[in-house]
Amino acid sequence: MRNILWCTGHSLKIPDIVRAEGSFIYDGRGNRYMDLESGVWVVPLGHNYPGVNQAINDQLSKLTHCGYYNSSSIVNEAARAVLGITGLEDGKCIFLCSGSEAVECGIQAIHKITGKTKLLCLHDSFLGSYGAASKKRQEEWHLLDWTGCRSCSQSERCDPDCHLFSAIPFKELGGFVFEPGSASGLVRFPPCALIEKMVSKIRDHGGKILVNEVTTGLGRSGQWFGYNHYQLKPDLVAMGKGIGNGYPVSVLAISQDAARKLEEKSFYYQQSHQNDALGCRVALAVIDELDKENLIERCSELGIEFLKHLNSICRKYPFVRDIRGKGFMIAIEFSGAGDQPAVAIHDQLIKKGFITSLRRGHNSLRIDPPLNIKKEYLAEFTTGLDSVLSSTC
Ligand SMILES: Cc1ncc(COP(=O)(O)O)c(C=O)c1O
Repeated sequence: MRNILWCTGHSLKIPDIVRAEGSFIYDGRGNRYMDLESGVWVVPLGHNYPGVNQAINDQLSKLTHCGYYNSSSIVNEAARAVLGITGLEDGKCIFLCSGSEAVECGIQAIHKITGKTKLLCLHDSFLGSYGAASKKRQEEWHLLDWTGCRSCSQSERCDPDCHLFSAIPFKELGGFVFEPGSASGLVRFPPCALIEKMVSKIRDHGGKILVNEVTTGLGRSGQWFGYNHYQLKPDLVAMGKGIGNGYPVSVLAISQDAARKLEEKSFYYQQSHQNDALGCRVALAVIDELDKENLIERCSELGIEFLKHLNSICRKYPFVRDIRGKGFMIAIEFSGAGDQPAVAIHDQLIKKGFITSLRRGHNSLRIDPPLNIKKEYLAEFTTGLDSVLSSTC
């Protein structure tokens, strides 16, 4: 990798991957690794999935991209599928290339609709790698620190007079960008009452709700979307990662009302790979396959069983501070100074052939396997984790 500027924020661990299939990746030295991170949480169907490969090959031989003045029926077909799963049936979509881009486009859309450039989000949300979402400038964001809500005795109903609420300048805000479950980080789903009350207040002031489903979307939490765990119908939904199963496509789904406003106000977002036929064909295939194989329900049920099993292992080790999850989104948090022992355990797991995700700065690991991973592989991992944890004692 001499000629690659490595700026992912993570150190390079396996530099010679030669192929990947299903829940495994293989290096050039003949080693096999179980991918419990699903790439960067991007392959809900596992690597090299035949139904998606077939769709890519079919579309590749017909049309990949066709410019600003033209389109193809596959684009609208994919939009209908996306809107069907989001519950925004009469809305519209913009297909893009990355999760960050879908979120950023959603933010620009809210600015345009409401004329307000200040937005609300939770302090621990990760929203993207660039633009307003990454910088979170004070003049553009009100960050709500909801740490106290985790231990609040009122969290089931949320007191509207709570100081957290009274500090939110609802009148100034154009909307709320909600990342359910701090999913990029630590799998912490905020209380329903908190989210639902904030949504209602934002709407009372004409604001819009954008949900960042880049990580939680497409079934990872055991529902199609993270917001399905709340009584919440968003105005905009940003999806990325899983919707391409490894192919870089993302989408912003927009409610009918919000889309109408954007059209009235001539919303302008110019990017060359907008609504590319190839990405749309991939998104359609991914949605079809997840649905056909009943993988979301499977993830919900198996996720509970997997978490129980992991819990029974982790309980034996006092340095495991917490383990929590929803569906196939699991976080294991360790006690101790700095990032130890998470760093050591992460390395040991790789040596044993298991790839998990190290959450730097949180002394935690994330486990997010493909939604179709075989049960026996999950059992193999729990045994491997047990042996690594026991050697860390
Ligand atoms: C919650 C969340 N939102 C947005 C993004 C950005 O997506 P992408 O990396 O596809 O730009 C990420 C990436 O990890 C994420 O975890």
